[in-house]
Amino acid sequence: MADLRVNFAGIKAPNPFWLASAPPTDKEYNVVRAFKAGWGGVVWKTLGEDGPPIVNVSGPRYGAIHSSDRRVIGFNNIELITDRPLQQNLEEIKRVKKEWPDRAMVVSLMVPCDEESWKAILSRVEWTECDGVELNFGCPHGMSERGMGAAVGQVPDYVEMVARWCKQHTRMPVIVKLTPNVSSVVPPALAALRGGADAVSLINTVNSMMGVDIDAMAPWPHVGGKGTHGGMCGPAVKPIALNMVAEIARNPQLRGLPISGIGGVETWRDAVEYMALGAGTVQVCTAAMVYGFRIVEEMKAGLSLWMDEKGYSTIEEFRGLAVPKVTDWQHLNLDYVVKAHIDQDLCIQCGRCHIACEDTSHQAITSLVDGVRHFEVIEAECVGCNLCAVVCPVENCISMVEMREGVDPRTGTPVGGHRTWLEHPNNPMAKDPKPALRPAEMAEPAE
Ligand SMILES: Cc1cc2nc3c(=O)[nH]c(=O)nc-3n(C[C@H](O)[C@H](O)[C@H](O)COP(=O)(O)O)c2cc1C
Ligand code: SF4
Ligand code: SF4
Repeated sequence: MADLRVNFAGIKAPNPFWLASAPPTDKEYNVVRAFKAGWGGVVWKTLGEDGPPIVNVSGPRYGAIHSSDRRVIGFNNIELITDRPLQQNLEEIKRVKKEWPDRAMVVSLMVPCDEESWKAILSRVEWTECDGVELNFGCPHGMSERGMGAAVGQVPDYVEMVARWCKQHTRMPVIVKLTPNVSSVVPPALAALRGGADAVSLINTVNSMMGVDIDAMAPWPHVGGKGTHGGMCGPAVKPIALNMVAEIARNPQLRGLPISGIGGVETWRDAVEYMALGAGTVQVCTAAMVYGFRIVEEMKAGLSLWMDEKGYSTIEEFRGLAVPKVTDWQHLNLDYVVKAHIDQDLCIQCGRCHIACEDTSHQAITSLVDGVRHFEVIEAECVGCNLCAVVCPVENCISMVEMREGVDPRTGTPVGGHRTWLEHPNNPMAKDPKPALRPAEMAEPAE
């Protein structure tokens, strides 16, 4: 039976499924329900400095993109950090941690960008005996206009400075939560490391506007007739987050920095993908808000079963295994050739692959053969782009099949070679261009 326990930057938890700092972790009631459901840890909803409580809008603060079957695939919010008094939050955190000592309790923080403010809040948070703090350098709306959140996260020097203050003023592990609203996530991650951060978590939400109400002629959703950009999360942001996690995991200067993967995690499989790219834990917000806390049961059971099937007894055994396979475009094998193949038994003859390929790709799928409706790949035209497989409504009906031997009928080039752009004769900068394989060098056809 797989062991799901994790030790993330010194913070122990019975499993890697943590709730991200957001409404699901806003108060004792929710967090206790989450722990009862089986979550391994939480990052408490971001706390701010003492003083007049934060004021949220009382109009709609959420928006969504739905798939045609009403699944929430993108979720947007204009909510601020906690709007409950600091002392009340701290007392609840202390109580919950005491009652649930085996679960990870991390507290998210965001205060003005001066050392005294950080020092003051850290000493109050330490009183709760929580396991660590997460610095919210990502909130893209409201707080950033007040010089906090993304306004800090987008400036590596500030990230480094605040991380350093925090490391100086607390004994607890410090996790820096990164914003995706930057051109590259590497500089802020390097800054967090220079500042002494114990780990990074990513991503926070992506700047977004969910739509426009064309009757009201205002952004949707709007509050009293006006709208503003918010932060998007949910399944639609997972690809953005995975790429950023991979960029950090494969950077030699950041090697070994613990990563908590956040963004669109709905199932155990999403979690495995983050872990394969180096994440030690994952955090979940949207899926919990849409489906409730009990989704963690399927996440834990699924991960455990998959690990048993693959023969992994701990998460460390497969964490990061996909990282060496992430590379830059220039290192891809330009001699690798695939062709689309249509399974005629599965094909429902809808014609979508034909139209997609005919109108926007390489005119490589028939629609009529001998006057009869029939969809078949013309290998001499197919570039293996995958568009037909993407648009086909029938799962596994179109597969991409590797050509391992022979000559590509499209280019007349023997397959089986290995040339990247750096070695390709068409690259004027290539130092040592390699010609294509000669037919004599091709692999012998299988008997
Ligand atoms: C309504 C809402 C409120 C959020 N509030 C916070 C917050 O206070 N602090 C924070 O660091 N992140 C906050 N987030 C961002 C989440 O912690 C998380 O980074 C993001 O939602 C991506 O994860 P997901 O795709 O699982 O939702 C919030 C997200 C939502 C949807
Ligand atoms: S892989 Fe691309 S080129 Fe080949 S048939 Fe499909 S859409 Fe056309
Ligand atoms: S899109 Fe798929 S199901 Fe439709 S015709 Fe093409 S192969 Fe057949």
